Amino acid sequence: MRTTVNQRKIRVWDLPTRLFHWLLAACIVALLISGNIGGEAMVWHARFGMLALALILFRLVWGVMGPRYARFTEFVRGPAAVLQEVRGLFPRKPGHNPLGALSVLAMLVAIGMQAGLGLFSSDDIAFDGPLARHVSDVVVDFATRWHLRLQWVVLGLVILHLAAIFWHQRIQQHRLVQPMLSGDQQVEDDDAVAANDDAAMRARAAVIFALALTLVVYLSR
Ligand code: HEM
Ligand code: HEM
Repeated sequence: MRTTVNQRKIRVWDLPTRLFHWLLAACIVALLISGNIGGEAMVWHARFGMLALALILFRLVWGVMGPRYARFTEFVRGPAAVLQEVRGLFPRKPGHNPLGALSVLAMLVAIGMQAGLGLFSSDDIAFDGPLARHVSDVVVDFATRWHLRLQWVVLGLVILHLAAIFWHQRIQQHRLVQPMLSGDQQVEDDDAVAANDDAAMRARAAVIFALALTLVVYLSR
């Protein structure tokens, strides 16, 4: 006998989270390219880097003040849930799964640190990060050395992220990319609650992002 499953669509990724995601992805591509070109491209490297830093600050606040599925308390789980997910035993729910949550946190931390170090880095030719002149040469050397190393961690995490998305999408037939574009996900769980993505929530996001950008620009003057 066939059981009928109640399929319906609910909002999972609010517009601010989606904008954050695609802007951050564009920034990281631009940063990896402009950083390696060097020279004239460094002016744009710094601009994209500061935008990436503002986006990360926004996301950290949004993880506390944003709607349901964007909140850290909703998707960050303990080792038991991660192990269950690895064994394929964790129930499918809307939002990040426990293992995906770890990769999200790792990317936010690595990209945040990379952008922070960049502010104090120098290419020793024509371009200094905006805060390099406020600190000693030892600090600039340290920041630059780790900025050059951490790029590989950022690149590695992004490659892992893309491989995981490909695996879910193509091998496991989980439609993850469509919700990150449209915001909506098919759910079978009757109790699943939609994320609040109304105008007031979006206005809150705009204020948080404006404050984050102002802080980064102010600190980098
Ligand atoms: C440099 C490139 C990228 C970076 C740095 C990046 C980073 C991230 C981050 C930080 C999140 C967590 C979103 C949040 O909760 O705020 C995320 C989620 C996600 N990303 Fe990316 N991303 C990149 C490229 C891509 C691309 C090219 C795709 C699609 C082809 C993609 C698909 C997704 C999807 C589907 C999720 C949600 C996963 C889930 O349902 O748990 N990302 N990404
Ligand atoms: C997440 C953000 C960032 C990423 C992924 C990133 C990535 C890179 C990469 C790939 C390089 C080239 C390294 C090499 O030559 O092998 C580089 C160099 C550099 N970046 Fe960034 N960067 C970021 C943010 C920033 C920011 C915000 C600033 C300053 C405003 C900055 C300043 C510099 C400087 C001064 C160099 C030259 C270092 C040297 O050649 O010795 N970066 N970055």
